[in-house]
Amino acid sequence: SIDLSTLTRQTGLTALDYGFVNTAATRSAITFIDGDQGILRYRGYPIEQLAKNSTYLEVAWLLIYGELPTADQLADFDERIRHHTLLHEDLKRFFSALPHTAHPMSVLSSAVSALSTYYENESDPHNPEHIELNTVRMLAKLPVIAAYAHKKSIGQAFLYPDNSLSFVDNFLKLNFGVMSEPYEVNPVMSRALERLLILHEDHEQNASTSTVRLVGSTGANQFSSISAGINALYGPLHGGANEAVLEMLGRIRESGESVQRFVERVKNKEDGVKLMGFGHRVYKNYDPRAKLVKESADEVLAELGISDPLLDLAKELEEIALNDDYFRERRLYPNVDFYTGVIYKAMGFPTRMFTVLFAIGRLPGWLAQWREAGTDTHTKIGRPQQLYTGAVRRDYPGTV
Ligand code: ACO
Repeated sequence: SIDLSTLTRQTGLTALDYGFVNTAATRSAITFIDGDQGILRYRGYPIEQLAKNSTYLEVAWLLIYGELPTADQLADFDERIRHHTLLHEDLKRFFSALPHTAHPMSVLSSAVSALSTYYENESDPHNPEHIELNTVRMLAKLPVIAAYAHKKSIGQAFLYPDNSLSFVDNFLKLNFGVMSEPYEVNPVMSRALERLLILHEDHEQNASTSTVRLVGSTGANQFSSISAGINALYGPLHGGANEAVLEMLGRIRESGESVQRFVERVKNKEDGVKLMGFGHRVYKNYDPRAKLVKESADEVLAELGISDPLLDLAKELEEIALNDDYFRERRLYPNVDFYTGVIYKAMGFPTRMFTVLFAIGRLPGWLAQWREAGTDTHTKIGRPQQLYTGAVRRDYPGTV
């Protein structure tokens, strides 16, 4: 690899790299991906092992601090997070200022920005104690905000967090519990959600993580950086794809169009239609996360006693695409988003909550990457170059 900043200084040359296809903006020791082999590892641990054996908070610790926690470290981390789950009552009123039709991703990013206003005197991005405190605050409060965004969209009252429950169970209760009615956590749902969240925890320098790092490089605090990351994740080419996949499957089903015909339209790029949930900038092989999600989709739906024709439709689409030259030549495979929506739907989440779930999954990765950038002595303010293509110089009328 070449250090382009030295090359630029020495030669004055600028590399034009739309979409940063070939430009590394940082060194990182957090996540390893081999896109050709379909390998994903967090801090060296294969994603398959973590998804099977670990928990969301254990993996969060691993990403943030670099090692698996001891039992005591994990218990302390869990305890500190439980301690910080409550939102300021004023912040809860913030939600009433937004229309009930608001997309929960917009609600989440706005509320995370608003959250920072409560901690302005404790958000120095150079103060290790503030960084640690806000890491815990965000892990504790963002799931609550996410659940309130859900409750707001369906017009139900917000519940207080139940800190006797584990992280994931508490999140499920906040989303699906109803005021003054008992709520029993379904262990199948809880484990399935934990697994999906683990699979999303980090993915090196994707668009939202790069956004978090870029905003952080200006000296902005964790709240500002992560709310920017949430906005980047919202787009349908990134995290928003999980919502777009379900919408696509629903549209195909309702229209009665055959899957083959839909695939033809994708190949002909009719109206720019894409096979959502397919393709990835880095994976030119089956996304290892998609493999795990696909495996659990059948299992979870069976255990929840649900049969969803959209899952069969997704499988049919995959089968046709994987055997088609268009997709083979371009090395397009299902990505993590292709099957997640079917599981979230089976759990009872509305489609518009899917990307919010991705955001909660990705939060530990954003925090870890923000912290890593802060301790890397090479980090500078992010400032891409451009190749100017406009007029060289013109005079304002009447000035010459
Ligand atoms: N359906 C149909 N064709 C596709 C798709 C797709 N999903 N993805 C890529 N292609 C085609 C492109 O049209 C292009 O074809 P061409 O060579 O004839 O012009 C070729 O494959 C290469 O695609 P690029 O757009 O250059 O690939 P890039 O790396 O820039 O984009 C991306 C990656 C954005 C993920 C793209 O594959 C896509 O739009 N997929 C659908 C959205 C999606 O699922 N996003 C989630 C990504 S994973 C995540 O963020 C968690």
